[in-house]
Amino acid sequence: MKQAVKIKEDVYWIGVNDRRTRLFENYWPLPRGVAYNSYLIVDEKVVVVDTIERNKMEDYIESIEAVLNGRTVDHVIVNHMEPDHTGALRSLLGRYPGATVIGNVKTFPMLKNFYDISDRLLEVKEGSTLDTGRHKLSFYMTPMLHWPETMVTFDATTGILFSGDIFGAFGTLDGGIFDDELDLDYLEEEISRYYSNIVGKFGQPARLALDKLGKLPVRVICSTHGPVRRSTVSEIIARYDAWSKHETAKGVVIAFSSMYGNTERMADGIARCLAENGIRKIRVHDTSKTHPSYMINDIFRFRGVILGSCAYNTGIFPTMETLLGELEQIGVKNHLLGYFGNKSWSGGAIRRLEQFAGNVKWEVVHPPHEAWGAPKADDREACREIARAMAAKLHTLYPDEV
Ligand code: FEO
Repeated sequence: MKQAVKIKEDVYWIGVNDRRTRLFENYWPLPRGVAYNSYLIVDEKVVVVDTIERNKMEDYIESIEAVLNGRTVDHVIVNHMEPDHTGALRSLLGRYPGATVIGNVKTFPMLKNFYDISDRLLEVKEGSTLDTGRHKLSFYMTPMLHWPETMVTFDATTGILFSGDIFGAFGTLDGGIFDDELDLDYLEEEISRYYSNIVGKFGQPARLALDKLGKLPVRVICSTHGPVRRSTVSEIIARYDAWSKHETAKGVVIAFSSMYGNTERMADGIARCLAENGIRKIRVHDTSKTHPSYMINDIFRFRGVILGSCAYNTGIFPTMETLLGELEQIGVKNHLLGYFGNKSWSGGAIRRLEQFAGNVKWEVVHPPHEAWGAPKADDREACREIARAMAAKLHTLYPDEV
């Protein structure tokens, strides 16, 4: 049983919850599911803004038909081509064959390649407008947030910004659709994890988009994932502003890879020493157990990062390699780094961590240390030196933060 939810006059939420998919983009864990938000504007012309993933077509069509009561769809706006928002497009156009698809010059080659859709297309450019009767829609390009074709649609009549993935979140909409109907504290990690994992690589495009969207009188944000924002518009914009500037808080993320516990002992010693030196926000992750999306999310939050790995077959441990590769790929900025390793039988982890430090250009707070097997007294002391150097740097940078 599905029902549309009225957002503003003539505008309805017709999204769906997905609690079955385990991995978003077949990679990012979805412990709390995800919502695919789609919207319907019922005016002299009927407009669908973004569609959904294909797995909930029946519910989706039911919602649309219940609102339209026999009317047809005139336009489908594709703000973003990724298939979690266009998977339903072919079926929707099959149902409403007279509908035109609205996108930009970068959208249409993708539509052709993904779905072989090339008819009834209406191209919009920066600032193009569409008058649907009572509603005046305008279009703004937001390239690389987070695909090349991404754009947003602004409804001047209601002040609604249909923002695509921007301002989105993981997590289903469990009854509440609007921010003031939901427990935002419960969704907190899914909101920041969505930014850090999906959008985080594109800080500079985000800054350009925020400048552009800041000129619009936005009263409501209708993203393609997460809550509809009507009470926390300025809050989510402020968070994007801080995130896109790579602003971080006082704290340290320790991520370690350990086969038989020796590297973990070194990590624990570092964590204890950080605490003794006044650092309160410490997050310790075992890379074999924690998905990189959670470690990356914490790294986006906190300035300090300490990485430690045992060697594995003359290189670094595979799950640490995954984390390093992702951080390099995302290009996370503005961090302090400490690192350590354990030789196992070959060595090799420190060499890769050193290469990583050069690639991401983070400030290394202290020379690294490598133990061989069980950490001895001098190994433990060397790890404590790394911790003390990190704590001292953080206290200097954030003198008033706990
Ligand atoms: Fe929600 Fe980039 O797709």
